[in-house]
Amino acid sequence: MANILETRDLTYAYTSRQEDPSLDSVSVGISEGVRTVILGANGAGKSTLFYHFNGIFKPKSGEVLYRGKPLEYTREALSVLRNEISVVVQNPDEQIFSATVEEDVAFGPMNMGMERDEIERRIQHSLFKVGMEDYRYRPTIQLSYGQRKRVALAGALATDPKVLILDEPTAGLDPQMSQEVIELVEELISAGTTVIISTHDVDLAYSWADEIHVLRRGKLVYSGKPEPFFEDRVQTALAGLVLPHTFSVNHSVQAIRGLPEAPFPRTNSQMLCKMLPDCDAAGKIRLIPVSDSLPECAGEGRVGIYGSNVRRLFRAAGMTPDFHFNAVEHCLMEAVSGRDAVLYCDESVRAAVLERIQSMEQFGKCVEVVM
Ligand SMILES: Nc1ncnc2c1ncn2[C@@H]1O[C@H](COP(=O)(O)OP(=O)(O)OP(=O)(O)O)[C@@H](O)[C@H]1O
Ligand SMILES: [Mg+2]
Repeated sequence: MANILETRDLTYAYTSRQEDPSLDSVSVGISEGVRTVILGANGAGKSTLFYHFNGIFKPKSGEVLYRGKPLEYTREALSVLRNEISVVVQNPDEQIFSATVEEDVAFGPMNMGMERDEIERRIQHSLFKVGMEDYRYRPTIQLSYGQRKRVALAGALATDPKVLILDEPTAGLDPQMSQEVIELVEELISAGTTVIISTHDVDLAYSWADEIHVLRRGKLVYSGKPEPFFEDRVQTALAGLVLPHTFSVNHSVQAIRGLPEAPFPRTNSQMLCKMLPDCDAAGKIRLIPVSDSLPECAGEGRVGIYGSNVRRLFRAAGMTPDFHFNAVEHCLMEAVSGRDAVLYCDESVRAAVLERIQSMEQFGKCVEVVM
């Protein structure tokens, strides 16, 4: 697949540390539509790399390419680039400059010269997506750290970028919001956005990424699928990282049984599936795709919701599901345990949800979907 973003021999040194580059000859290729994680310990160079992706920093040597073309660093070229690539930096205070939440979210669309109605639509939509619609008129200075992070994300969403780059998006967020951010990211991916996340959270990287790129003290030490990286314990330790929980448990269980580690489960439901005897039948998942209104529920079992549209409709109807967050996983856990479940999902993410349910087959259980 073609690289949408790429660096070639990218080297960068901060002014005060010219002899000790923070990025040293980094060549990394990001494929369009691939869930990509830049993984590395504190100080590995993740944020420094991200500042290069939309031209905030200019390489000392080497280059950055977007859709095969080297970045140009003129004011006009950068302004065009930033309509396509949006970087949400690690610290929201570096990103939020406006006095109120709505002004901050409106900043990008206004810069892009949008009509007032469209700006209004984008403010509402983006604040809703990050769960901050009730804070629209609040001074940004009065927000908590996690709330400022959400506003910074809303600002990026409002520009509807082709590539969304999130530096430590879940750090400092409560567990529910962290899951909501990942859910939101999945919606964006289904809509065709390429998403790149930086983190040192190995569990997040392992459960989410199609591809990881690992930085160690400014050098790229690995690019590829997550499993081969973590199979090399020495490499993992040298990069200042630990093994993901699911990877570790799978390793121990399969070692006890004398079975191969592959296929590698990435979620609890996949793990459970692999560990349970084949004879137990799985429950069914009734999948209810939702567009504008909530259809009648004709299924048995606990109910989960997935997607911001469904979430809004449930709230408006005063309905409370059993599984509010991470619902695909919860419904799969029900099914693997032999119980039926009902999953309402946004029409836009239906294909991704089906793919995830079908993936259970490789772990030994076929979960039937009823539509
Ligand atoms: N403004 C700066 N001046 C000098 N050195 C810096 C500056 N910012 C970062 N560095 C150094 O550059 C290296 C890479 O830092 P960077 O912030 O990119 O790491 P990171 O992987 O994002 O770390 P973290 O996980 O803590 O966010 C570190 O050694 C850091 O000390
Ligand atoms: Mg950082």
